[in-house]
Amino acid sequence: MTEEAPVVYERRGAVAVLRIDREARMNALSRPTLYALGRLGREACADPSVRAIVLTGTGDKAFCAGADLKERQGMTPEDIRVQVSIYRSELGVLDRSPKPVVAALNGVALGGGLELALVCDLRVAAAHAVLGLPETSLGIIPGAGGTQRLPRVVGEGRAKEMIALGRRLTADEALGWGLVNRVTPAGRDVVDDAVEWLAPVANGAPIAQAAALRAIAASYEVPLERGLELEAVYYDETLRSEDRLEALRAFAEKRKPSFKGA
Ligand code: COA
Repeated sequence: MTEEAPVVYERRGAVAVLRIDREARMNALSRPTLYALGRLGREACADPSVRAIVLTGTGDKAFCAGADLKERQGMTPEDIRVQVSIYRSELGVLDRSPKPVVAALNGVALGGGLELALVCDLRVAAAHAVLGLPETSLGIIPGAGGTQRLPRVVGEGRAKEMIALGRRLTADEALGWGLVNRVTPAGRDVVDDAVEWLAPVANGAPIAQAAALRAIAASYEVPLERGLELEAVYYDETLRSEDRLEALRAFAEKRKPSFKGA
């Protein structure tokens, strides 16, 4: 673990892998870690050769054990308010990413760790992963979006079970609740599995993918009528793309399309 480089950036073909590298602290989110996630997230979003982003943690114990509770010990309430705003600004980069962001849960995802996974578009879990929001047992509530994003993914009743009762889920339970999209088969590395699973994105049409993500995000930000209008706006962006014409040509010529992101 080095506080100078708490997050490692690696490339796997068209996929950028951001790995929190603080194994001795269960990949907990210190302030430098939040800034590194924001900086590297911006870098990955701005790089046209990156088609998808995978977030993971070093080791097989923890994806991320949430807030760095050792760092927090020395913090005043005002420091913590600032920290919560840093969560919003730095993780917001990934939330607004035009490229799909996938959490590859290599171990426990607790508190801010699960909230980080909820910022992502999709979640893949190792079979031994455990997911939970234990904040109320620490006398606080989830402060990095957990109370807002979890009910949208699993529904109000189940979100209350996790937040108010402190229920923790195994990977299989999380799959049943729709909290993870996929559980990696035993014996496979979760990042390898996530990268392979992302192949349709890596080979797909970037303008259409970005438009689809924005349209889906609108579905819980605005009323239905406005959402339908926004869908038409985003649809129009794809109509103007060269990739749409390439897909039609490829269909007629019975070959795979070669998308350029134009
Ligand atoms: N912040 C800082 N350090 C943390 C941490 C956190 N959130 N979670 C774990 N660590 C550290 C431990 O202090 C320990 O370091 P030490 O040996 O120097 O004291 C090391 O990581 C290993 O943790 P340990 O508890 O011994 O491992 P474990 O395998 O028995 O349990 C967890 C792992 C993640 C289940 C357990 O550490 C835990 O519950 N952590 C707190 C999670 C939490 O409540 N997060 C929500 C914050 S809002």
